Formats: sequence, structure tokens, C-alpha cells
Amino acid sequence: MPLSSETALPPPSPEALAHSNRLAEHIANAIASEGDWIPFSRYMELALYAPGLGYYAAGARKFGEEGDFITSPEISPLFARCFALQSGQILKALGGDVLELGPGSGVFAADLFEALKEQGTVPGRYLLLEVSPDLRERQRALIAKRHPADIDRFVWIDELPKKIRGVVIANEVLDVVPCSLVHRANGVIQESGVIVTEAGFAFEDQALPDGELARRAAAVIPPGEYDYLTEVNLAAEALVRTIATSLEAGLALFIDYGYSEHEYYHPQRSMGTVRCHYRHRFHGDPFFLPGLQDITAHVDFSAMARAAEQGGCELVGYTTQAYFLISCGLAVLVSAGDPTMTLSKLKGTSQVHRLIGPSEMGELFKVLGFSKGFDQPVLGFQSARHLPLTRDAIPGEES
Ligand SMILES: C[S@@+](CC[C@H](N)C(=O)[O-])C[C@H]1O[C@@H](n2cnc3c(N)ncnc32)[C@H](O)[C@@H]1O
Repeated sequence: MPLSSETALPPPSPEALAHSNRLAEHIANAIASEGDWIPFSRYMELALYAPGLGYYAAGARKFGEEGDFITSPEISPLFARCFALQSGQILKALGGDVLELGPGSGVFAADLFEALKEQGTVPGRYLLLEVSPDLRERQRALIAKRHPADIDRFVWIDELPKKIRGVVIANEVLDVVPCSLVHRANGVIQESGVIVTEAGFAFEDQALPDGELARRAAAVIPPGEYDYLTEVNLAAEALVRTIATSLEAGLALFIDYGYSEHEYYHPQRSMGTVRCHYRHRFHGDPFFLPGLQDITAHVDFSAMARAAEQGGCELVGYTTQAYFLISCGLAVLVSAGDPTMTLSKLKGTSQVHRLIGPSEMGELFKVLGFSKGFDQPVLGFQSARHLPLTRDAIPGEES
């Protein structure tokens, strides 16, 4: 969805604009020193994570009503409470830690830990892997305030542990892992990258060298001659594969917006899924005010599931956020607060509606779960409808 004009979005403050200009200059210098062209994945990496300047690396408010977007943990503590019921099942059976990737404001960690404590299933440690130094500090401050007596259990780590036992959770992390853009134009598949022009940043395609990206681009782009732009996220797959390999025993859950491959690489989805968030509006221009907006792409859950299996894990479920939360016991949690609450009434309450409503986050967001060394039915998928990850898993269809 291209921007009609910059004035369609709220203007930034002079300080924010100056910050964005500094990041734009930093990116332009990187482009100049890296051969006057960088892959889109490199642009996304710089725009989001350039030290001190990128969207996630600098101090702008991102989450919540005053930020650019709102995530499920920010909507209601019920989200974390459902994950606590799920995590409790695993921690009770296997012991171990909770590892959260990309904890954002820290509110999910604080709520999850509170519920785990109430349930009597406190993890050995609550590990937080956060790439943004600014967000780490915010998480630390919030958790110190909410859990002063247990602060020593919270451990911020710089890289994935070699061995993981327990529960791994990543909400809205894979969608901000820099992705490659591949583009078929005039019948030829190339990689889309970024150049500097007099008018600012612009897309330009370059030949794809032989390798995994070229192979994958050829495999996912639907047959035909028409123009088709899409994403392949080898870095997100590598992250999932590493976690799956490191998981000795436990469950990993990835929650995000995305599709299985047959929906993602549908012939009609020919413009890709890159989506930018700025002050609760979304659009498709990643060059708009770099550093002041989030840049995301949907997740190809089939690719993530394959990566998990390559890491030796077993796929335990792929379903919608709504099914997962309900299967964990969302209705029970709400009715514990209000015994007259039923599932149909639940959908009407605004926070719950935002979490499970089909036109809100309930169906757009999916949960992918994989495990190792745990063979009981997994709570969140137990009574959930499982979605197909491959076309041949759909009755009556073949790939
Ligand atoms: C969209 S925010 C989601 C925050 C939080 N999970 C929530 O739901 O509110 C993405 C988070 O992932 C972090 N992040 C991005 N890439 C990461 C990576 N490779 N490992 C760990 N964290 C990452 C970002 O810094 C940010 O905290």
C-alpha cells in the first residue's frame, strides 16, 4: 500500500525528524561504501537496528497507544496468563527456564512471571534475549519495579544458549527479522535492493548470485511471466533452526502474523507483505522516515516449521491466536474474574475481542509450536483447529 503523500501521516517533531535524517545519512553512507547498492535485508537491518539510530535501537516510544503499534501483551495481561497456563504444563513436567525473545516493553515477561508464580510453576530462570540496548533498559526497569524480590531470576543474554530446557516464546519477533526481497520482472527473478537517488532511497533489482536465496526464490514464486514481488526470510529460518537445535527438552512457541506457504506465495499476493507501522497507521513504504517507523514482513510459517524439524524438533501445532488462547483456557481465566462470563459474551468485551476477534488479532495472528522430549498433548493445541502448513495437507488439494 504505497503512501499517497507524507502529509497523509502525522508529521514528526523537529527532533524526531532530525533523528530520522541522521539515520538516513548513515544508511546512505553504508550504501556508498558497500557498492552503491544494498540488499533490502541490509536496509531493513540498518533502519531497525543500526546502533543508537535504528527504530528498535534508539529511544522512540514504540509500543502502546502513544507509540506506533500495539501488540497482544500490551492489550491485556490475559494474553500472558494464557501462555502461563501453557508454560506451566511444560515446566511442571520438565522443569527448566523460560526464554523470551524480543521482550519489547517487558510487560509480557512481568505478567507471565506473575502468573507462573501464582500457579506455583516458577521457572529456574527467566532468560530475555533482546537485541536493542534501549529496550533492555526499559525491560529491566519495569521488571525491577514489578518483581523486586525475584529480579535475580531474570537474566538478559546476548546470544542464544547452547542448550535450552523449558519454554521458548517469541511474540512478534520473526516479522522484524530482516528479510530478502525477490522480484520477477520481465520474466527474470532478481533481488530487490536499495540505492540512493536525488529523490531519496529507491528500489533497484540486481542479479541473484547462485545460492540458497536464488534457489528459494525460484521455488516460491508462482509460475508465470507476470511481475511478482515477495520475501524470503533465511535469517528468520536460521533463528528458528538454531533454537530447535538447542532445545534439549521443552516447547517453543512463535506467535506472529503470517501464512503457510501456499497462502503466502499465492499468485494474487504479487506485491509482497512488507508493512510499515507509524503512529497506528500502516502502509507499504519502507523509505518513509527511517528510524521513526517499524518495518515488518509476514512470516512464512511453513518455512519456519521445516526449520524447526531440521533442528530435530517435532511440530506440535499451527493454529490461530484465537484457537490457541481459547485452548489454553482464556474463557476460564475470564470467568474466574466474572462467573457469568461465557465465550460469546467474552468476544464482546473489548480487550478479549481484540485478542481473539476474527477481524482483530484472532485470525491474522498464528501460533506455531514445536517440541522435543515432551510427548503429552500440548495444552494450547489440544482443542485447537490445526491449520494446514502444506497444500497437500488440505483435503482435496495437491501441491
Ligand atoms: C515488534 S516487537 C515485539 C515486542 C514484544 N514481544 C511484544 O509482543 O510486545 C519486536 C521485538 O523483537 C526484538 N528483536 C528483533 N530481532 C530480534 C532477535 N533476532 N532476537 C531477539 N530479539 C529481537 C526487538 O528489539 C523487539 O523487542
